[in-house]
Amino acid sequence: MTDTPHDLVDFGNGQPSSSLLPLDAIRTAADHCLSRGDAALLQYGDDQGDVDFRESLARFLTHRYATPVSAAHLMISAGVSQALDLVCTRFTRPGDTIFVEEPTYFLALEVFRDHGLQVVGIPIDHDGIRLDALQDALTRHCPALLYTIPSFQNPSGTTMSAARREQLAAVSRAHDLLIVADEVYQLLDFGTAPPPPLAAYIRDARVLSLGSFSKICAPGLRLGWIQGAAPLLDHLMQSGVVHSGGGLNPFASGVVRSLLDLGLADAGLDVLLRVYAERSAVLCRALRDALPMATFVEPRGGYFVWVQLPSTISASRLLPTAVAEGVSYRAGALFSSVNGFARSLRLSFAHYDEAALVLGVQRLARAIARYSTNAE
Ligand SMILES: Cc1ncc(COP(=O)(O)O)c(C=O)c1O
Repeated sequence: MTDTPHDLVDFGNGQPSSSLLPLDAIRTAADHCLSRGDAALLQYGDDQGDVDFRESLARFLTHRYATPVSAAHLMISAGVSQALDLVCTRFTRPGDTIFVEEPTYFLALEVFRDHGLQVVGIPIDHDGIRLDALQDALTRHCPALLYTIPSFQNPSGTTMSAARREQLAAVSRAHDLLIVADEVYQLLDFGTAPPPPLAAYIRDARVLSLGSFSKICAPGLRLGWIQGAAPLLDHLMQSGVVHSGGGLNPFASGVVRSLLDLGLADAGLDVLLRVYAERSAVLCRALRDALPMATFVEPRGGYFVWVQLPSTISASRLLPTAVAEGVSYRAGALFSSVNGFARSLRLSFAHYDEAALVLGVQRLARAIARYSTNAE
């Protein structure tokens, strides 16, 4: 077993294994970038981000998204978390209502809390956000924005269908609703690409698409992008932080530009896709073998399996027993704006190798057996 700092198998850990972090490729890219001898790399940068980097990124995304991306529609960020914070700063005021998917990424809920926003959850089904529930909520609220994770959603793994994306863009147009699409898992498919990202709608709906190198390369780079129409990007660029700081992360942008231009970003992503597909399959097989009472949809990409336990089991109450058995996870309630999903738990397969994943599931099965015996 590698990458396991302690004996605990923490399925809650949404980081890649350290063995998957591309140290050699980053060293090569940094050498390549520094040997250009251009001191501008160490200067304050453009508010929108370095144009050469944006051109390289646009080429990479055009190829990987299989849909055209223009450098003019990209603004560089320090990752999706920072981008989300910037979007909230520029497009919301404390007390505003925003819509999120129910369930949604729990740390995004913290960003929204930082901005004093009222969060209203819109349920999802197997095709993504439920449009009937969204339409209904729009009769009662006037949200500043809707936050969605269209592909391989965190935590549910759900991918919004192409038809649903089309309908969501139509709702955005009809209600002038700002859609903030967190597309951090869009490129992480295990063989079948999801429908084109919501970024494909930036010209005909109010859509901001957030992307990041965290899941496709390395989170420590703190580098991402915001894709949107010029008026929306202009509004974001009126930020004091962006002005004062001279754009976001110009140094990492320079290194990653070399990574992209040398083909190392593509090669690294291909490795991740292979490893995550294998790990996901191993985790699902172990769950089917050891936890036949649990249900889940096998993921087709992303980082997570969203497991439903029998209704007699509370994932939060099970957690101390699980930790005592040497395994942990994120309980479903964390991902809810209304404390729902009591019997759900989210397991990440990105951090551990296959032996650790199997061991973790065996421990989880023991914890459930102990919990159920004690509950009788
Ligand atoms: C849905 C989602 N958005 C954003 C992030 C964080 O992205 P970044 O590292 O680019 O801030 C994560 C990380 O787990 C995530 O799952």
